[in-house]
Amino acid sequence: MSEVTLESLVSFCKRRGFVYPSSEIYGGLAAVYDYGPYGVELINNIKQIWWRELVYRYDNISGLDSAIFMNPRVWQASGHVAGFSDPLTECRYCHTRLRVDHLLEGVGAEASDTMSETEINQLFDDYRHLVVCPECGHRDFTQVRHFNLLVHSNLGNFTGNDSNPVYLRGETCQGIYVNYKNILDSTRLRLPFGIAQIGKAFRNEITARQFIFRTREFEQMELQYFVRPTNDLVDFNLWKQRRWDYYINILGIDPANLRWHEHEKLAFYAKAACDIEYNFPFGFQEIEGVHARGDYDLTQHQKFSGQELDYYDQAVDQKFIPHIIESSSGVGRVFLMLLNEAYHEEKLGENDKRVVLKLKPALAPVKVAVFPLLRNKPELIKAAQEVFDQVKMRWRCEFDDNGNVGKRYRRQDEIGTPYCLTVDFDTLEKGTVTVRDRDTMKQTTVQLNELVSYLSSKLDY
Ligand code: GAP
Repeated sequence: MSEVTLESLVSFCKRRGFVYPSSEIYGGLAAVYDYGPYGVELINNIKQIWWRELVYRYDNISGLDSAIFMNPRVWQASGHVAGFSDPLTECRYCHTRLRVDHLLEGVGAEASDTMSETEINQLFDDYRHLVVCPECGHRDFTQVRHFNLLVHSNLGNFTGNDSNPVYLRGETCQGIYVNYKNILDSTRLRLPFGIAQIGKAFRNEITARQFIFRTREFEQMELQYFVRPTNDLVDFNLWKQRRWDYYINILGIDPANLRWHEHEKLAFYAKAACDIEYNFPFGFQEIEGVHARGDYDLTQHQKFSGQELDYYDQAVDQKFIPHIIESSSGVGRVFLMLLNEAYHEEKLGENDKRVVLKLKPALAPVKVAVFPLLRNKPELIKAAQEVFDQVKMRWRCEFDDNGNVGKRYRRQDEIGTPYCLTVDFDTLEKGTVTVRDRDTMKQTTVQLNELVSYLSSKLDY
């Protein structure tokens, strides 16, 4: 019926138990969010599907769960201590801190990640006259400073001196790089092979708007695919295609809402870099990066750790450092994309409407809802409870006997439940239930003894 706005998604998420501001009763914590009862189900489905589509689908990909805390040398080797920063300016009028690369983007200029403070100040000076503060509309900004995004902890520090902190990881892939040799030595994986990991990452993001799109604590789903140096661009294109197809065929995203963004200015070590962008209510923004990272990461870790990280290729009797193709996406961004894509307000007849989340069944937080037709008939409640017990350990299910059946349908439509089962007098007499489909709203009669296989055929992916 109408365009989905970010505000409508934020309020929907809170009202229906998908996302809450963190520690809200204390006024919240900027750019940190909690996922509620339906949110956590959707998150788990997003992660499970990603895992299956990579780790289970491809015989040459294995999983990993490395720790959030790592030896701080990791972050020196990776370049994060010296260079993982965003260019920051402050509006002199309202004191809002702003990312200069975003301000420049807004006036048609592109800053690269590798620019020094002097270079970005020069670029900003060239465009300053065009830039206005998005908060107050003034045009007076401080000098640009690089602001490091790594979050410090005091783990193991009993002196109070923060000069060599243990960081909370800023990306999950470093845990993959430093385990590459362990995995090679303890499994039968040989090039090309991939290591996949899902886990939390932390960044001191400067600007914290756009809800769960950019948060200070978030989860990443990262694949690092190790390849022969001669093959990296072929594998890069292979993964570009696979990841594009994934969003369309597996997650059900409309291709019109997706596009590629090719990086014009590459990091010095990168061979190629592209992002998949989604058309959010605030415009096209990145959901995933697919990058050909060359041998940079392993070479750096070899240098800093003093450990040999090269690969012996028996076929050609050669040693070399494998190149890496990376696919890196954020769970929260995929979550927001899926809600935006699935959220529909539909007109039903003249005076009625419904909100319906048209998520693919595999993603739906609740798969099945069971309703007794009437709540004051103990025999119907008992039969409905038996049906519920039959399905609840197989899929996430809800039992609802509150209000009339029409209202129960609306509640389930709103959270995207694909099937509602109504237990009525026919259940008692003929052993059947009515199964109502979320999208078509059509009802089908199914025999109780065929219910699980009927639902499996619709829900299992
Ligand atoms: N290892 C590569 C890497 O971390 P990135 O572009 O910084 O690259 C990859 O992050 C993905 O992680 C992004 O495409 C995005 O989906 C997600 N992401 C990054 N920063 C985020 C943040 N502050 N909040 C939510 N998601 C974020």
